[in-house]
Amino acid sequence: MVLPVVCMLLLLSSSAAYAQKTKPPSPSFSPTPAPAPAQDFVNLTDLLTVAGPFHTFLNYLQSTKVLETFQDQANKTEEGITIFVPKDSAFTALKKPSLSNLTANQLKSVILFHALPHYYALADFKNLSESGPIPTFAGGSYTLNFTDASGAVHLTSGWSDTKVSSSVRSTDPVAVYQVDKVLLPEAIFGTDIPPTPAPAPAPVPDTAPAADAPTADGGSSSPGSAPGKSSSYRIISWGIWGHLVLAVSGGLALIL
Ligand SMILES: *[C@@H]1O[C@H](CO)[C@@H](O)[C@H](O)[C@H]1NC(C)=O
Ligand SMILES: *[C@@H]1O[C@H](CO)[C@@H](O)[C@H](O)[C@H]1NC(C)=O
Ligand SMILES: *[C@@H]1O[C@H](CO)[C@@H](O)[C@H](O)[C@H]1NC(C)=O
Ligand SMILES: *[C@@H]1O[C@H](CO)[C@@H](O)[C@H](O)[C@H]1NC(C)=O
Ligand SMILES: *[C@@H]1O[C@H](CO)[C@@H](O)[C@H](O)[C@H]1NC(C)=O
Repeated sequence: MVLPVVCMLLLLSSSAAYAQKTKPPSPSFSPTPAPAPAQDFVNLTDLLTVAGPFHTFLNYLQSTKVLETFQDQANKTEEGITIFVPKDSAFTALKKPSLSNLTANQLKSVILFHALPHYYALADFKNLSESGPIPTFAGGSYTLNFTDASGAVHLTSGWSDTKVSSSVRSTDPVAVYQVDKVLLPEAIFGTDIPPTPAPAPAPVPDTAPAADAPTADGGSSSPGSAPGKSSSYRIISWGIWGHLVLAVSGGLALIL
């Protein structure tokens, strides 16, 4: 009676152990191609709708049909894609070379210019920066230059000198990085780039207005208003004291 039970238990445990041992090889044995792409599939529309605001870029992606090209590349999990997405504010800030004059094909190239046909993690850009101009999805002479400044990824197209300001998604096969400016290719806007040293120093006085006081303009205006305030305050406070003194002396006069 006891022996059959032990035998059954042994059989059960050994079969369980066998099942556990055989479990790991079974998924690799049957490749199951259906679950793998489902797990890797990244819906770019959904991704850009949730993050951002990237509505302007998403609208351009849809109107130029570049979205299908990018989605197709995102589906190719062995290569992947890296997309640089300007915020809505970057498009509204774009005044001088406007996108409104472009032909449909030029606009499509500008949007294609915002992606690389390969997945790059942020750490890969140090290497990319040493590789010279990097071809974009727009192909040909539509290249971007990368520099890695102590971890910050800068990219330039000649017209647009900007940096990756945030990583929206960086998981193989899809990288989406937020950039501060719309990337304008020289291949469309030419190399006659207006000098831009003026906008560059602008943020510096913005962040440190006090340190900028010694300049002729700022010096005369900002210290001028400050003493004005304090002297009027002194007049007011003297006025109060004057009344007090008058009142006290008046009171003294009454007593006397
Ligand atoms: C992505 O999701 C949107 C809706 O969120 C849908 O309309 C679109 O067909 C999806 N794209 C793909 C490639 O599945
Ligand atoms: C990308 O893959 C998804 C899921 O497999 C599919 O629905 C979609 O049509 C594909 N899109 C493109 C553009 O290849
Ligand atoms: C672009 O179009 C605007 C009017 O919409 C016009 O004033 C401007 O000169 C055009 N610029 C170029 C480069 O054609
Ligand atoms: C750096 O880039 C070159 C191509 O430019 C590539 O051959 C090399 O494997 C890369 N190195 C690393 C560490 O990614
Ligand atoms: C990109 O880098 C190359 C050298 O690697 C340089 O000749 C070219 O002028 C650069 N382009 C821009 C837009 O900075």
